[in-house]
This record gives sequence, C-alpha cells and structure tokens, in this order.
Amino acid sequence: MKKIFRWIGIILGVIVIAAASIAAYIHFTGFPSYDMQTITTKVESTPARIERGRTLAMMLCVECHRNAETQLLTGTQLKDLPEEFGVAYSRNITQHPIKGIGQWSDGELLWLLRTGIHPKTGKYLPPWMPKFIRMSDEDLHSIIAFLRSDDPMVQPADVDNIESQPSFLAKFLARVAFKPFEYPSAPIAPPDTNNPIEHGKYLANGVFDCYACHSGDFKTMNVFSPELSGDYYAGGNKMLDVNRMLVPSVNITPDKETGIGNWTEQDFINAMKTGFRPDGSLMRYPMGRFHRLTDTEIRHIYAFLRTVPPIKKANMKAENVQPSSSATLGEKQYIQYGCVGCHGTTGLGYADLQKAHKKYPSDSVLADVILHPKIYFGPLTTMPTWEGRINPNHVPNIVAHVRELGKKSGQ
Ligand code: HEC
Ligand code: HEC
Ligand code: HEC
Repeated sequence: MKKIFRWIGIILGVIVIAAASIAAYIHFTGFPSYDMQTITTKVESTPARIERGRTLAMMLCVECHRNAETQLLTGTQLKDLPEEFGVAYSRNITQHPIKGIGQWSDGELLWLLRTGIHPKTGKYLPPWMPKFIRMSDEDLHSIIAFLRSDDPMVQPADVDNIESQPSFLAKFLARVAFKPFEYPSAPIAPPDTNNPIEHGKYLANGVFDCYACHSGDFKTMNVFSPELSGDYYAGGNKMLDVNRMLVPSVNITPDKETGIGNWTEQDFINAMKTGFRPDGSLMRYPMGRFHRLTDTEIRHIYAFLRTVPPIKKANMKAENVQPSSSATLGEKQYIQYGCVGCHGTTGLGYADLQKAHKKYPSDSVLADVILHPKIYFGPLTTMPTWEGRINPNHVPNIVAHVRELGKKSGQ
C-alpha cells in the first residue's frame, strides 16, 4: 500500500472516531449549558397586573402547560411536536415548592422567559418552550404576577414532571442552530397604545408571535427582525395539530387573492372573537384562540397587518383525520366540523371531553353544552360557540359520538 493512502486511512479513522465521540458527547450531555446572570428584579403584584397576566397566560402558556383533565398547569405532552425532535413534556409551573416554581425568584423566571436558559441548571430550553424577547417588562411582570396569584390553575399541585426525550437532531441543533437570547440590557417600554400600527405590531410580533407561525418556514424566520423572515406573513409554515395532521399556516398579508385583503375589519374581529372565518369554517388548531383580546387590540392588529407588504402565495392544503371504515355519522361529523382538532380522535386532545357523557347525562343538556359553552364555562371559554354553526340535524349524532368517546375511554 502506498504510504500516502495509509496516511489518508489513518486521518479518516481519526475523523470518524472524533465524529463518533462528538456525537456521543452531544447525545449524553443533551442541551448545552450557558453562563448565568443573577436578576434581582422584584415583581410587584397588583390586581390589574394579575388580571392582565391571566389574559396573556391563557393565550400564551396554558395551551402547552395545562393538563387537559385537571385544568392545572402541571405540564403535559406536546402532542404537536414533529417526531424528528423527539418527545417533549412541558413542566409543572404551579406554585408547588419542589415540583413547580414555588421557590423560584422573580428574577429567575424573568431570566428563563427572556433568555431561554434554565435558571437552576444553566441548560438551554429548546424552541418549543417560547422565549419572549420583545415583550414589554410590564406585560412580562404581569404574567409573573399571575403565576404567583391565587388563581386555581397555579395553586401548588404535587404532580411529578415527566422528563422530555429530545432526539439527537434536537440536541445537535441546540449546539449549532438554536441559541439562547441575551438578557435585555435596558428596560423594554410598553408600546404607545394610542398608535394603532405600533400597538398592533407589538402584539403581533412582540407578544403573540403571529409572524413566526404565519411566515413561510421556521428555518427562514428572523427572530430579531421579524420583517426579514422569509414569506413574512404569507404562510406555508408546516405545523401539526394534536392528531399529527399537517395544518400549514396561511397567508394573512393584505393580498386580495391569496391573503386576507378582502377581509373587512369587522370580519377580522369576528374571526378572532369566534374562531370562525367569514365563510363559517373553523380556524383549526394550532391557530390560537385570541378571543380574550379587546376589540381595540384586535383592530390594532388588523391595522398593522394592513401595512405588511402583500405577497401572492396560494395556501397549501391541510390534512384531515380520516374517519374509520366503520365510522358512524357522528364520528364523521365530529371530524368534519373540526372538534377533532382540539379534542383529538379519542376525546382527549388539548382539551378533554371524555368526562362529558357522565357529567351531562341528559342528551339535551350535552347538546346545549356544545352549542352554548359560554353558559357552562363562562364568557371567556376557549370552546367555540357552535350554535348556528352545526346543522341542527347533526347535533344528535355528535352528542352520540361524544358519549361513545367517553365510554371507550372508561371515564
Ligand atoms: C409551545 C409550548 C409552550 C408554551 C406556549 C409555553 N411553554 Fe413553558 N415549557 C414548555 C416545555 C416543552 C418546557 C420544558 C422543556 C424541557 O425541559 O424539555 C417548558 C418549560 C417551562 C418552564 C421551566 C420549568 C421547570 O421546572 O423547569 C417554565 C418556568 C415555563 N415553561 C413557563 C412558561 C410560561 C410562563 C409560559 C407562557 C408565558 C410558557 N411556559 C409557555 C412548553 C411551552
Ligand atoms: C401556533 C401558530 C400560530 C400562531 C401563533 C398564529 N396563527 Fe393564525 N393560523 C395558524 C394556522 C396553522 C392557521 C390555519 C388554520 C386552518 O387551516 O384552519 C391560521 C389561520 C389564521 C387566520 C385565517 C386566515 C385565512 O385566510 O384562513 C387568521 C386571520 C390568522 N390565523 C391570524 C392570526 C393572528 C392575527 C395571529 C396573532 C395574534 C395568529 N394568527 C397567530 C397558526 C398560527
Ligand atoms: C378550539 C378548540 C375547540 C374546538 C374546535 C372544540 N372544542 Fe370542545 N372544548 C374546548 C375547550 C378548551 C373545552 C373546555 C372548556 C372550558 O373549560 O372552558 C371544551 C369543552 C367541551 C365539552 C365539555 C367537556 C366537559 O367536561 O365539560 C364538550 C362536550 C365539547 N367541548 C364538545 C365539542 C364538540 C362536539 C366540538 C365540535 C363540534 C368541539 N367541542 C370543538 C375546545 C374546543
């Protein structure tokens, strides 16, 4: 063998061993650790802050941290995380001193929510736990005041955390692509709420991250300058619902053909308040429910979206759960109307209806719960109002299917 080939062989061997040890290192050490700073800020709790914090947390945290069965923020599996990233569980963020965040300081919470670095371990939290880099101090303090409040959702709950099992890809990306954020060096002032476009932009890009989901792809998203994201607000980003069906985001630029250029301000307010588009169709999960926003806030988001450059880009087709071959009419209609998007094929998705058949033994009451959920759960419930949306002839079938799901679950 020529000497040169032997050398190449040795070098390749070394590279292979080095690559394997780096892979093993990444595999065993998990997410990288970072240096930490001590934040001494104390959050003052006022009734107004708690109320604002509740409103924000209901739209920003609950979907991922609430156990659908107990309604407490004790953590749950993220059912819509793409499989290639592994399996992720959110955590117990009730006031429990050991299992929850009861003993965390305000500064530790601020540090995690701004930077994405865990204040106790120094480890980076992956992108599926959001970070709030543009949110005003006032709004972030309100969320913390809520977490400390006497709201039933956050009372100490002795529930163990389930450790996430990130894939190798997730851990690898956390070394090369996902990075924590700097802690802001100066206070972040709230926006001028009298300036509709500035206020709307703050809500859409700084609080609710509408741009992140509604741009073309998470890979071409620019977290520091959202307007530089690929296909900014033109949709096409691929996401999953709780049944792991593909539900791509859609074009909400002012383009008249492919975006929402033909939606009037009132259409937009109605859609945000009810969860249904002007044509009566449901905006499917993972599109959030933003009905807790005030009319003014929604108007301001609309005003801002009107200033986004229109992009002509047709929406991709979403996937639908297919009814089983022996499906009853009720099962078909449960899928057709989109109940399956929130409640899953088993009745336990991000919301739970498996207990309903025992809770409401009378069919007419169960039908009424579905048609008028506000009467049963209060005006701010996330469950859409189905009166006028479901063909009255279909209601008994759907009621029967809800009962079927409850019985099958053994609840
Ligand atoms: C898209 C889902 C998602 C949303 C939305 C979300 N979280 Fe999380 N959160 C997670 C996941 C997943 C983890 C755990 C990550 C891990 O360790 O694997 C987590 C971890 C945390 C932790 C660390 C707790 C601990 O004991 O380690 C805190 C605190 C937290 N989240 C607070 C919040 C707050 C407050 C909000 C709303 C402002 C929020 N999260 C919104 C998914 C989410
Ligand atoms: C977690 C990702 C996500 C976030 C955050 C999000 N959306 Fe959506 N949105 C979607 C998806 C996915 C759809 C498509 C749903 C469907 O196919 O039924 C959608 C649909 C819509 C639609 C319906 C438009 C149409 O033509 O069908 C509007 C309007 C909308 N979103 C506005 C917003 C606004 C405003 C915000 C921020 C306040 C926002 N979205 C935040 C994912 C998201
Ligand atoms: C956007 C998500 C969403 C969709 C779509 C949805 N639901 Fe719900 N549903 C919820 C939430 C959240 C609750 C819990 C209500 C609360 O506590 O405020 C709920 C509650 C219920 C309950 C009462 C459960 C109980 O234990 O009291 C029933 C029954 C129900 N839904 C049936 C349906 C049916 C049938 C459909 C389709 C026609 C449907 N839901 C569509 C989110 C949704």
